[in-house]
Amino acid sequence: MDSVNQAEFWQQRYEQDSINWDMGEISPPLKAYIDQLPESAKNQAILVAGAGNAYEVGYLHEQGFTNVTLVDFAPAPIKAFAERYPSFPPEHLICADFFDLSPSNYQFDWVLEQTFFCAIDPIRRDDYVKQMAALLKPKGRLVGLLFDKNFGRAEPPFGGSTNEYRQHFAPYFDIEIMEPCYNSHPARQGSELFVMMHNQRQH
Ligand SMILES: C[S@@+](CC[C@H](N)C(=O)[O-])C[C@H]1O[C@@H](n2cnc3c(N)ncnc32)[C@H](O)[C@@H]1O
Repeated sequence: MDSVNQAEFWQQRYEQDSINWDMGEISPPLKAYIDQLPESAKNQAILVAGAGNAYEVGYLHEQGFTNVTLVDFAPAPIKAFAERYPSFPPEHLICADFFDLSPSNYQFDWVLEQTFFCAIDPIRRDDYVKQMAALLKPKGRLVGLLFDKNFGRAEPPFGGSTNEYRQHFAPYFDIEIMEPCYNSHPARQGSELFVMMHNQRQH
C-alpha cells in the first residue's frame, strides 16, 4: 500500500500509459459547474490537486480563469500539460507532494476535486481533509466529485460512501452538497457524488 503515497508509483503508470482513470476530457459535471460561475470568479485562486492530465485546468485556462494552480507529484502529466498549454503560467505548475504544500505559501479561494481523494491511501483521509482546510482561505470551498462506490480492492481507486465521507469532512467543513451526481460522464453514471463544502476555518 505504501507505493500509492509515492510519486514513482504514479509516474510509472503514466510512463506505461496505464491510466484507466483518465477520461481524456473534462468531467461533464465539473464543466457544468465552471460554466455557471460568474465573470467575477475568473481571478479567484483555484487549486486542482492530483490533477494528472488536468483537463479541468486546461478548460479553466481556456475560459479565461487567470489564477489556477495545478499540483501533481508525477512529472509526466505536468510536462505533457505544459506542452499542450504553452500559454499557461509555468509558475502555476507545481510538481510536489500535495501534503508538502505549505499553507503559508498557498491559499486558495476554491479547490476542484477530481479523482484525487480516491487516489490517496485511505489511512490518510483525515490528513487530506486537514491539508485541504489549511490550503483553503477561510470559508473557501472544496467542489467536485467523490466516488459513491466501494471498489473493495487494496489499490486505487479507493471509494467510499456518504456516511464515511461526512465523518472525515464534517469536523473541518460545512457540507452544503453531497448528493448523487445526475450529469456524470457515461462511464461513471451512478457512481459519483457531487460535493460542495465550505471551510469552517475563520482565519
Ligand atoms: C487517479 S489519478 C487522477 C488524475 C486526474 N485528476 C484525472 O482525473 O485524470 C491521481 C493523481 O494524483 C496524483 N497524486 C497522488 N497522490 C499525490 C500526492 N500526494 N501529491 C500530489 N499528487 C498526487 C497522481 O500522480 C495522479 O496524477
